[in-house]
Amino acid sequence: MRPRRICCIGAGYVGGPTMAVIADRCPDLTVTVVDLNAARVAAWNDPDLSRLPVYEPGLDAVVGRCRGRNLFFSTAVEQAIAAADMVFLSVNTPTKTRGLGAGQASDLKWVEASARTVAEAATGHTIVVEKSTLPVRTAEAIQAILGSGRPGQSFSVLSNPEFLAEGTAIRDLEEPDRVLIGGADPEAIEALAAIYARWVPQPRILRTNLWSSELSKLTANAFLAQRISSINSIAAFCEATGADVSEVARAIGADTRIGEKFLQAGPGFGGSCFQKDILNLVYLCRHYGLEEVAAYWEQVVRLNTWQQHRIARLVVTRLFGTVTGKRIGLLGFAFKADTNDTRESPAIRIARDLLEEGAQLQIVDPKVSEQQITRDLGLPPGEGEGSWQLASGVEAAASGADALVLVTEWDVFARIHWPAVVAVMRQPAWLFDARGRADETAARAAGLRVWRIGQG
Ligand code: NAD
Ligand code: UGA
Repeated sequence: MRPRRICCIGAGYVGGPTMAVIADRCPDLTVTVVDLNAARVAAWNDPDLSRLPVYEPGLDAVVGRCRGRNLFFSTAVEQAIAAADMVFLSVNTPTKTRGLGAGQASDLKWVEASARTVAEAATGHTIVVEKSTLPVRTAEAIQAILGSGRPGQSFSVLSNPEFLAEGTAIRDLEEPDRVLIGGADPEAIEALAAIYARWVPQPRILRTNLWSSELSKLTANAFLAQRISSINSIAAFCEATGADVSEVARAIGADTRIGEKFLQAGPGFGGSCFQKDILNLVYLCRHYGLEEVAAYWEQVVRLNTWQQHRIARLVVTRLFGTVTGKRIGLLGFAFKADTNDTRESPAIRIARDLLEEGAQLQIVDPKVSEQQITRDLGLPPGEGEGSWQLASGVEAAASGADALVLVTEWDVFARIHWPAVVAVMRQPAWLFDARGRADETAARAAGLRVWRIGQG
């Protein structure tokens, strides 16, 4: 079983970069990424590599090397499936918004639809790989949909969750901590392992059963998100007691059992997955009657929501209890630096709270468009109380403002020339640094009052 043609259903933040790296590392494989979203596919095929639909450092170079050689983006879903001997399912799995499990369970309608398309279009023996993050035992449902196959068809289902983080996706894919493959068919497992083995050392390719693989993905995200809620809870405590969370993080991170990574206090985690995956875990725990376990993980999300509201509240409190009609510059809108993704960005909740209070927001982000912010806030740009506008740069965001709120840790915000920025603000002016990223000494020297996350 040596795959020659791969098809990936879903040309999103995972499907696009993941397949680009596979194509780059395996020039003898033909990789076709398909999507029903024609605009997205067209953007992947844009001759101008700066206009790919996903912004990731290094992605343009990888796509530039492979596209048209052995990497293709297409809307011809059935055709690509029929030609493939391995099909990755990399479609979205957001939280259900209605019906059974609404607000917690994952909505599997896109996974089910793509599995049905595979069942209709596949030819010969096809290895079907779950790349999407899925509830435990989803492979069972996929196997049931694929059935035993029409004459001439057969299937093996594998779980191969993706652990890349946005902003570092290419590095994470090229040098993964581990690749996880779960399955029951040893031949199929080895066929997929052989692809990764072209660039990933064998000891990092872990093989497990299907259910362990599916659950490991949810567990990894739950542990990572838990660390952020843990450090954010301590940040609030530092502010109340005079300790400094960055010093506490350094001190505890030096313990090799704890480790130094993922201890950066901030405005709460965003991104399309942490909240959705924990809520899914919570839902599954309740389903299996494990109420205490469910409540334990649920608290990670509750603390995160509290943290996001807390930032907006303390801005209002320090600006004499009201921001009505006041200009506030929002530095960053993406959920983290080095991505154009705004899904579940803490900036959305913070902006909404400030708009609700009547603020006039001036938002600047190096990669997020006005249309995207309009969609996220459910409000077009405007003027007056409770409005927002896109600013062309930090100085424009600061113009006439009483405060700047640093929400995303973009590098440019660490290098702000504060005297020029303070000069255009209304005094007394504040910097609220929710990421601990700005040059606080320079900001204070330029005359700003500074609040920094986790600083007592
Ligand atoms: P995304 O929304 O960016 O992309 C999913 C794509 O699938 C969309 O373009 C959509 O049009 C397409 N699609 C849906 N149904 C389809 C169908 N039936 N046929 C063809 N195309 C279809 O999502 P994403 O961020 O790439 O996430 C995909 C999965 O990977 C999710 O399960 C997510 O939890 C998981 N994941 C995401 C990340 C991340 O960093 N974004 C990391 C690891 C895992
Ligand atoms: C996360 C995981 O890191 C990936 O392993 C996983 O594959 C992915 O989710 C997924 O399943 O979607 P991602 O959400 O892209 O990746 O980015 P992270 O770097 O994990 O950051 C998530 C959020 O936590 C961001 O809002 C970030 O700013 C915040 N964060 C992260 C902190 O506030 N502090 C930290 O120390 C680290």
